[in-house]
Amino acid sequence: MRAVTVTPGVPNSLQLTEDWPEPAPEEGAILVEALAVGICGTDHEIISGAYGEAPPGQDRLVLGHESLGRVVEDPTGALQPGDLVAGIVRRPDPVPCPNCAVDEWDMCRNGQYTEHGIKGLSGYARERWRVQPKFAVGLDPCLASVGMLLEPTSVVAKAWDHIERIGRRAEWKPQTVLVTGAGPIGLLAALLATQRELSVHVLDRATTGPKPDLVRSLGATYHTSKVTELDFEPDVVVECTGAPVVVLDAMFQAGPTGIVCLTGVSSGGRTIDLDAGALNRDLVLENNVVFGSVNANRRHWELAAEALSRADQGWLNSLISRRVPVEAYADAYTSGPDDIKVVLDFTA
Ligand code: BGC
Repeated sequence: MRAVTVTPGVPNSLQLTEDWPEPAPEEGAILVEALAVGICGTDHEIISGAYGEAPPGQDRLVLGHESLGRVVEDPTGALQPGDLVAGIVRRPDPVPCPNCAVDEWDMCRNGQYTEHGIKGLSGYARERWRVQPKFAVGLDPCLASVGMLLEPTSVVAKAWDHIERIGRRAEWKPQTVLVTGAGPIGLLAALLATQRELSVHVLDRATTGPKPDLVRSLGATYHTSKVTELDFEPDVVVECTGAPVVVLDAMFQAGPTGIVCLTGVSSGGRTIDLDAGALNRDLVLENNVVFGSVNANRRHWELAAEALSRADQGWLNSLISRRVPVEAYADAYTSGPDDIKVVLDFTA
């Protein structure tokens, strides 16, 4: 069968492998036919050779961690043939660490977790895949054209879950949220903020293209200024750019008792001047919290599935800039200037 593969560590080794083996029964009882995979910055990083790890004993890694498929067979009865399904990305470490031992693999403490399509496990960009019921999330049939957004939504569902848990350390009535970056993660973080009936502001440098309208049609306010030029101090910041200056500005701009959630994975290597004493003073005197958030556990995937089914389906569809047939995979993995989410379509 066909699979999109790379040799991790070798830049631009992306190819469509025609004779990839069928998924082994050990991969899971549920057999799934792929409908689509979403493509994100992590895929681009893997293709550049900077990230990613093939399964032990293999040279090539199948890409794809934003999955959507249809169940072909599930002898366990957890799902029915024809059901829409997404596969969870991360698997717990084998030790396991205290968090993985209780299925909080998103909080793995020893780094020995594996991730489909990223780290040590074949991804979902292949015509058929298998998954264990524990790592399969069923989707509402209304999500047939956008279900590959479940994975990025699970990432922001976790971010919001942790923001709210931190908020509960004291009386907390947040009103304003700033999301920095209007890519898929930023837009989905903003969607979840509007579902919480907060006043939502999204900041991005794009002045043209689809981002301003996507933000406004959520009922949120779009900004293109610097973070420090905003005329309010947000109660919550969800930082989705990973851009060093934006990250620091977000920490300075958050209001008293503010919570800053960092979700952007920066490449590193760039140094900037920082008055660390002033930042420390600001954070201490305002009881602020800055924390990082990555990945998601099953509870977050379920929260995400619920959030997506409640969302305006037209808006979700408008996040998908291009649906590219598998044959044209190279186009799918080449970013266009106005792309929000590009999807590789296995049904075309
Ligand atoms: C994925 C996460 C993953 C992270 C680090 C992100 O693109 O959405 O699930 O944990 O990359 O590999």
